[in-house]
Amino acid sequence: MDSQTVERLRAEIQNEYVRVAPPEGFPNLPRIPVGRYTDPEFFKLEQAEVFDKSWLYIGSSWEFLERGSYKVYDNMGRAEIVIIRGNDDVIRAFYNTCQHRGATVLREKTGRLDYLSCQFHSWTYNLEGQLIAIPDERDFANDPSLKDCGLHGVRCESWGKFIYINLDDDAMDLETWLGPVSEDFAWAKDLRPTNRHERVIAVNWRVCIEAFVEVYHIGTVHPDSVAQGIDHRGTVSTFYPNGHSRMIVPNVGAADGAPQEIKETLAEYRLTDEGAPLRVEANVSYNIFPNVLVPSGLSGFTLMEFWPIDVNHTRLVTWVVEPDWGDGVEPPEYKERAGYFDEVLDEDTWNMEHIQRSYQSPHFKGPKIGVHEKRIYYLEQSLDKMIGPDKVPEDMRVEPLLEKYVVQTAQDI
Ligand code: FES
Ligand SMILES: [Fe+2]
Repeated sequence: MDSQTVERLRAEIQNEYVRVAPPEGFPNLPRIPVGRYTDPEFFKLEQAEVFDKSWLYIGSSWEFLERGSYKVYDNMGRAEIVIIRGNDDVIRAFYNTCQHRGATVLREKTGRLDYLSCQFHSWTYNLEGQLIAIPDERDFANDPSLKDCGLHGVRCESWGKFIYINLDDDAMDLETWLGPVSEDFAWAKDLRPTNRHERVIAVNWRVCIEAFVEVYHIGTVHPDSVAQGIDHRGTVSTFYPNGHSRMIVPNVGAADGAPQEIKETLAEYRLTDEGAPLRVEANVSYNIFPNVLVPSGLSGFTLMEFWPIDVNHTRLVTWVVEPDWGDGVEPPEYKERAGYFDEVLDEDTWNMEHIQRSYQSPHFKGPKIGVHEKRIYYLEQSLDKMIGPDKVPEDMRVEPLLEKYVVQTAQDI
């Protein structure tokens, strides 16, 4: 983010503070059909057309420092994926499915290996996924198809230290997918995730994520925590291509911040990028479509992954992501930050399962969205765009009313 963009965002925050009605021309948004959060058929559509075709954040290269270090992921409760660093230092992704009789190759969830040996009959693959040895090879000696029996690869690309996978071989590359977000968020590319926490909540993944893409609720849900720090009335939201969005929420009293104090804070945290002054004054958060949120602080951010398990269950994984602390002891404040964030999450999640049940009411047609909450509507319309609106049952469609607000570069707001 450059200095001019920061200036324009500051002015826009001031506009938000003083407006007494929706911005000129802003549409009244229709309700989001409730079946989108409760219908197993819509869930299947979303899995096939969105999750099987989007770039999904899976892990960071900090977790795969040695050749052969690996992790097995089953985030969505489906076929497991292995991420592993090869002998050529390339980090790859494979289905954890043996090409002999389909057993799970690796049973340990994490470790370091010289090769991958299936725990059923010991078919063995190298770190690049090629089949290199099978017991009693004579039984297959005349079978030319053996050469195609390597582990099935999954597309795997990195943005800085952050690794994404895509189940669709024909998907655009990751950098194109991220678009302006890649430039806008570039300051965070090499940060290091730590303090992973996981919880499974009996709620649809979008009921869950949509509670974090607005801060309209902070006065009610977080009066003694979040609401002490940020002021939702000055929120500025930006929509990017491919469903991504950004929300900037000014800190309480940010407008009164003396330039000298801002300068001192930047020096203390050794922040030099042009967008850093805005992070002294505000919280900058992205929705990396579909299922990642990154609310940022000054020098790091919180990473939130929302994994749909079924229509009513979500795996929520959170990390604190901070500057690398090298080989020494991790600064204790990172753990404290994770602890604070967990308390805030408790405040957010205690109500969610009740919301999911409440959505069964035959008289509730679906969420009503105000101007401040427009990123929710944008997330929903982006799902339909990716699914292909014609495939969505007519009574569940979301009209793309926010398309005209989508910006194309990191300098647009
Ligand atoms: S299923 Fe893997 S070696 Fe038989
Ligand atoms: Fe919240």
